[in-house]
Amino acid sequence: MSNRKFFVGGNWKMNGDKQTLEGIIKGLNDGALDPKAEVVVAPPTIYIEFTRSKLKKEIGVAAQNCYKVASGAFTGEVSPGMVKDCGGTWVILGHSERRHVFNEPDELIGQKVKFALEQGMNLIPCIGEKLDEREANKTEEVVFRQMKHIADNVSDWKRVVIAYEPVWAIGTGKTATPDQAQDVHKSLRGWLAKNVSEEVAHSTRILYGGSVTGNNCKELAGKPDVDGFLVGGASLKPEFITIINAKK
Ligand code: G3P
Repeated sequence: MSNRKFFVGGNWKMNGDKQTLEGIIKGLNDGALDPKAEVVVAPPTIYIEFTRSKLKKEIGVAAQNCYKVASGAFTGEVSPGMVKDCGGTWVILGHSERRHVFNEPDELIGQKVKFALEQGMNLIPCIGEKLDEREANKTEEVVFRQMKHIADNVSDWKRVVIAYEPVWAIGTGKTATPDQAQDVHKSLRGWLAKNVSEEVAHSTRILYGGSVTGNNCKELAGKPDVDGFLVGGASLKPEFITIINAKK
């Protein structure tokens, strides 16, 4: 039995407006949430300060991305310092949509990890294989490669929560089975033990993401190396509270 604190992140992606987000925030503020669960939500960047100002303090606020330097001629980007200035204390990095829609390479994600930690942020770096990579039995090859670019840039593992999100499960309704998730999470923990340390491997939380719902969260959460979730679509719905309470 691990003593890792259960963690549930809600990635709101590019969804919502002030009116709808206010309703989601009210649901979370009024909801009966498991006090043993650590909860962080990631609004669109433009709504970070709005969300922080209305959300109860027990729930953290994350950016969905940030850049690798403090300031400069990088149109459209935001820095970790700007996220912090608006009340965000977490940042998701290397999400599969950043990797495969916006073509962010491993090297850039590693540089972002390094700088965001230097700027005092808490991080949720994301990894995960595509369907063709899984079907070619390359899952470990892919996630270990991604992990190395992240791990090589981590200066403080206490501020890092890893999210394993198989690309083929994101937004598809095709959730990894609990055994599939456990297999990869166990492999990742073994990678951390071998390449970082036993202590980091034991203490670092590894989240599952990819079509998590109120119906499948309990079985997934019951797996020994699944320490929580990074939730997309369902985090915008009342069932997000069921997912937060999956270990209750
Ligand atoms: O970051 C979490 C997200 O990628 C998972 O999306 O909609 O499959 O829960 P969804």
